Parts: sequence; C-alpha cells; structure tokens
Amino acid sequence: MTDETKENADVDTTSDTPVRPRFATDSAPTHDERVADERAVAEEDSNPAVAGVLETKLMNVFYGDFRAVADVSMSFHFNDISALIGPSGCGKSTVLRSLNRMNDLIPSARVEGEVRYHGANIYDDGIDPVEVRRRIGMVFQKPNPFPKSIFDNIAWGAKINGFKGSKSDMNDLVENALRQAALWDEVKDKQSESGLSLSGGQQQRLCIARAIATQPDVLLMDEPCSALDPIATLKIEELMIELKENYSIVIVTHNMQQAARVSDRTAFFNVELDTDGQRTGYLVEFSPTDELFTNPREKDTEDYITGRFG
Ligand SMILES: Nc1ncnc2c1ncn2[C@@H]1O[C@H](COP(=O)(O)OP(=O)(O)OP(=O)(O)O)[C@@H](O)[C@H]1O
Ligand SMILES: [Mg+2]
Repeated sequence: MTDETKENADVDTTSDTPVRPRFATDSAPTHDERVADERAVAEEDSNPAVAGVLETKLMNVFYGDFRAVADVSMSFHFNDISALIGPSGCGKSTVLRSLNRMNDLIPSARVEGEVRYHGANIYDDGIDPVEVRRRIGMVFQKPNPFPKSIFDNIAWGAKINGFKGSKSDMNDLVENALRQAALWDEVKDKQSESGLSLSGGQQQRLCIARAIATQPDVLLMDEPCSALDPIATLKIEELMIELKENYSIVIVTHNMQQAARVSDRTAFFNVELDTDGQRTGYLVEFSPTDELFTNPREKDTEDYITGRFG
C-alpha cells in the first residue's frame, strides 16, 4: 500500500455523508456567478467589521531548510468552525501550530509571512508568545490533562496566566469553564480527583475547559476526537457547535464526515513534490463546507473527497 492509498484507507467515504456529493460538472455555477461570489468574499474580507479574527497572509513554514507549507493565505472568522483537511504530511498540524506560535517550541521551525490576530502580526517583535497562546488556545490529539486534580487542571492554567481573583472567583472560573466544556454535571462532586481518572472523552473535555479558562477567543484543535470512541466524539462535536457562539474554532480532522458535520468552512490542503524532491504542502481551496463537499472549485479537492486521490 502506498502512503497515499494508506492515507485514503483512513477516510470513510462510503458511509452516510450528511451532504450528497455533487461535482463541478453537475450544475456548476456559471462564470458570472463565481465572479460575483468571489467579489462578495473579497469585499467581506476587506470590511473590518467582519474581517477574520485570525488571518494568515502568504505564510510559509520551514523546518530548517525544508519548506513544509507554502504561501498560505486564509481568514478565520468569529462564530465559525473552520476545518483543515488533506492527506498526511500536507502540513495541517504545521499550519495549526503556526496560528498560536506553538511552533516556536520546535527549535528548527520558522514562520515567514504574517499571522494577524485582531489585526496584529503575532510574529512581530515585542509580541509575547505566552500571551498569544492564552488568547488562541489549543487542544491536542491525545487528551493531555496535567497529573493534578480536575479542579487544579483548570485553576493552575488560569493562575500561570495571571489570574489574580479570590478563592471564590477561582471556584466560579473553574465551574464556568467546566460548564462551557459540558463536563460540570459529570465532575462537580469529584473535582479533587485526578484529571487522569476520567475517561478519554472526559479528559478531552477537561482539556477544552482548561483552554477556555484563560479566556481565549480562538480555539485550535488538532484531531481532537481521533483517540475517542463515537459517543465521546459526538459529545465533542456538539460541544464545538455550542462553543462557536463565543469563539472562532479551527479543527484539523482526518474524518471528512466530521468536517461536514461540524464546520462552516473547510480548507483542503495538498502536498506537491518540488524540483528538489521536497514535499511541500499548500492550500488548494478554503470554501463554505457544503460547497466544498458538494461542488468543489478544484479537481484535486474533488478527487480527495471522493477517495480517488493519487
Ligand atoms: N518537528 C518537525 N521537524 C521537521 N519536520 C517536521 C516536523 N513536524 C512536521 N514536519 C514535516 O512537515 C510536513 C508537514 O507535517 P505535518 O505534521 O504538519 O502534516 P499533517 O498534515 O498534520 O500530517 P498528519 O495528517 O499525518 O498529521 C511533513 O513533511 C513533516 O514530516
Ligand atoms: Mg497532523
């Protein structure tokens, strides 16, 4: 099995898709409709009232000399869930980690171009990466609670991020974060127990609560359900839909049904072999999710979502 077929084996295209695939040849918009559509998007993006809370402009990410992703320009909006999909190695995690300077923790990683958060480039001199990560929270693939109590998992993160309220303020903060993460009812009577005593799905919701407690407005999630069973997955998906009322959420997923179920916009990334034999990832298209899955703009997207890739 080649890497690409192995990749596609992960992707279930046979089960019920919430949206019926319909392709570019099948009632595609006319040229004029497409131009009007693109103009509307461009106008929206240039309107500060609705411009993205987080935007990348010609972002390139390198590991040493290796350019892992090239020229990514995209805009993530408040109250939206944006899904990043694409074959393994196309740079989804790299892009996600670059959105809150998590890549700073990898010594060889370097970002060129801009990542604008409320208009400010998070890579400018003088920007504190810790503050960036407080405002743009991250949830990882494998739930990673601290080996501390449920309460302290949330309180500790808030404290190291400068929370200075009273004990009762802290109790309120913890309760509020657990409620927002739809975990309160399950743990309210055992907050002193270890976070590690929870089930995988509960641990992931605890990690979401911990991220929420620092009061971000963007949440980044890298395959947050891939270690979870279907019921725990459904709970996280429902939670994401509730959370988007107050956040912009960017999720990496290998599961196209998940992208179709939860996201408002979907970005398809692909990877190409350059003349030096390097495999560089790039953004193929970033479209409203129903459009990407029913009427993709690009042939490569169509091939990927129908499992005909490679
Ligand atoms: N820490 C690192 N050091 C060097 N190269 C890296 C590092 N992390 C990722 N890469 C490389 O960057 C490219 C993009 O990797 P990335 O993990 O972002 O892909 P991905 O789309 O998230 O893949 P997957 O779906 O398998 O998680 C790959 O070629 C990978 O080998
Ligand atoms: Mg990844």
